[in-house]
Amino acid sequence: MNKAVYPGSFDPTTNGHLDIIKRASGFVDQLVVGVLENPSKTPLFSIRERVEHLKTLTDELKNVEIMPFSGLLSDFVKKVEAKLVIRGLRAVSDFEYEFQMALTNRSLNENLETLFIPTSTQFLYLSSSVVKEIAMFGGDISDMVPEKIQSVIIDKFRI
Ligand code: PNS
Repeated sequence: MNKAVYPGSFDPTTNGHLDIIKRASGFVDQLVVGVLENPSKTPLFSIRERVEHLKTLTDELKNVEIMPFSGLLSDFVKKVEAKLVIRGLRAVSDFEYEFQMALTNRSLNENLETLFIPTSTQFLYLSSSVVKEIAMFGGDISDMVPEKIQSVIIDKFRI
């Protein structure tokens, strides 16, 4: 079976993430979306909330599974018996970090390959950090995040 992992923090999930999930799930047999729990960072949404958002958003994609993970991505990929990691690429500025991560992961797990999917052009500028900053100042995030999770993001910043 052709199984892949799409890892990330998803704090929160953006339309760009969802676009990559939909496209990748179209060409692999099974896609595991790995949601990173990083104890050294304080995310806006807890790991439970982020997993829940993704489950709601991918409900109709039958070959997509959402799983939290901590520690090394290369270990998680082994654990779920996948060999492929999917990453979205927005601009050249993403490339250096992504290339370093791909090489590091392969040095830790020689069976692991990383596949980069170029973002759809309308999401070139989009990131979770941009969404949080705009939401914090009361800006319009309706074109940036899936409608189903818009209100929970806005609510996080309500005083
Ligand atoms: O899209 P994001 O939120 O920047 O995702 C980054 C992620 C989760 C893919 C990356 O930080 C990661 O894989 N973390 C796990 C720790 C790890 O394996 N580090 C070694 C590779 S550099």
